[in-house]
This record gives sequence, structure tokens and C-alpha cells, in this order.
Amino acid sequence: MPAISIDTPRLVMRRLTIWDTEDLLEYHSDPQVIKYIPWTQRSRTDVEQALTHYETASDQFEKEGDFWVLGWALKTTGKVVGQSNASLISKANRTADIGWATNRQFWRQGLALEASSYLLKKLFQHTNLHRVVANIDARNPESAALAVKLGMRREAQFRQSVFTKGEWCDMWQYAILRDDALK
Ligand SMILES: CC(C)(COP(=O)(O)OP(=O)(O)OC[C@H]1O[C@@H](n2cnc3c(N)ncnc32)[C@H](O)[C@@H]1OP(=O)(O)O)[C@@H](O)C(=O)NCCC(=O)NCCS
Repeated sequence: MPAISIDTPRLVMRRLTIWDTEDLLEYHSDPQVIKYIPWTQRSRTDVEQALTHYETASDQFEKEGDFWVLGWALKTTGKVVGQSNASLISKANRTADIGWATNRQFWRQGLALEASSYLLKKLFQHTNLHRVVANIDARNPESAALAVKLGMRREAQFRQSVFTKGEWCDMWQYAILRDDALK
């Protein structure tokens, strides 16, 4: 597959680079944005390290562990206002995991829905994935509502399955199958 970039009505979803540090810092350092994701509140140095890791992302989506991180650059200004993460968690079961985060200044503008629906389409159309899951902290119903809007179904609640930020958390698993997504 060629270098990943996805065009949506309002966004260019693209690989992130060191030039995006300022934009990422805005939401990677925001306690409300990171509350239910595993990141700690990030400093500029932490964001630079994250970006170095993102640069190791593969254009392919074939080997277990292959991952994409796509920033959402607004077409109007070029500002990166959120990101999608996707990783191949099982090659045998053709299953990927996805996640999302939006800069709080841009919440409730439909950007996470727009980005994630185009990402799902891209994943199912350009890879042989069978199933895509989103693992969502059960204290994060806003994120779960987004998953439902994407056509995902809550298939499980795992009790105290993740120890994060000093406490055990219940996790919901939402999922969508290829046949449902491409209907
Ligand atoms: C979850 C999150 C990504 C949503 O981003 P967003 O860009 O504001 O989402 P959208 O505007 O595209 O909303 C899409 C749908 O999600 C749901 N939703 C999003 N925010 C919501 C909120 N505060 N309350 C209730 N539902 C919400 C709604 O169903 C919404 O559709 P609607 O506006 O037509 O009702 C954002 O709140 C966020 O960044 N949270 C912190 C990071 C995070 O928790 N990521 C998920 C880890 S699993």
C-alpha cells in the first residue's frame, strides 16, 4: 500500500512529523483528553518522543504490530486537531484495534466521527481485515457513543481488566465486521 493519507471533506489524515509538535502538545498535555487513554500528561519532550515512535509506523498493515497514527490536519488552516491510531493485533484473525482523540477546543464538531469513519473504510477496502475493535474505558460513554455512531457494537465488558493510572478499570469492547462496514 502507498504512504497512508486519507482525504475527508474537512481533513487531510496524514502521518505526523516533528513539525506537528505544537499542535499535538495542545491535546497530549490536556488532562481531560488523556483521562481515559493510557498516555500520561505529556511535556514537549514526551510529545517529541511520541512523534519519534510514530515515525516507525508502517505504511503496510500486514504484520502483527504494524500500526498507523494519522493526524487530522484541518483543510482550512493545516492545524492538527486530533489523531487516529490503528494497529494490527491479530494476523490470523485479521483483527485491528482503533482509537481516537480530538483536541478539546474542537470537540463536538463531528471531527472524530468523520476521521474514524474514513479510517474504517480505508482499512476494510485496502487490507483484508475481517474485524476492527475499539477498547473503551467503561467510564468514557462519550467515546462509546462515537463507536456506536461508527456502526460498532458493544460485544463485551471486561471487569477490571486494565490497571491504569493507579486503578483497575472495566473495559468495553466495541467491534465491527467487514461485512457490516462495507454494506
Ligand atoms: C471521544 C472523542 C474523541 C470524541 O471526539 P469529537 O470530535 O468531539 O466527536 P464528534 O464530534 O465526532 O462526535 C461524534 C459522536 O460521538 C458522541 N459524542 C462525542 N462527544 C460526546 C459527548 N461529550 N457527550 C455525548 N456524546 C458524545 C456523539 O454520539 C457524537 O455525535 P453527535 O454530536 O451527532 O451527537 C473526544 O471526546 C475525545 O477526544 N475524548 C478524549 C480522548 C478519548 O477518550 N479517546 C477515546 C479513547 S477510547
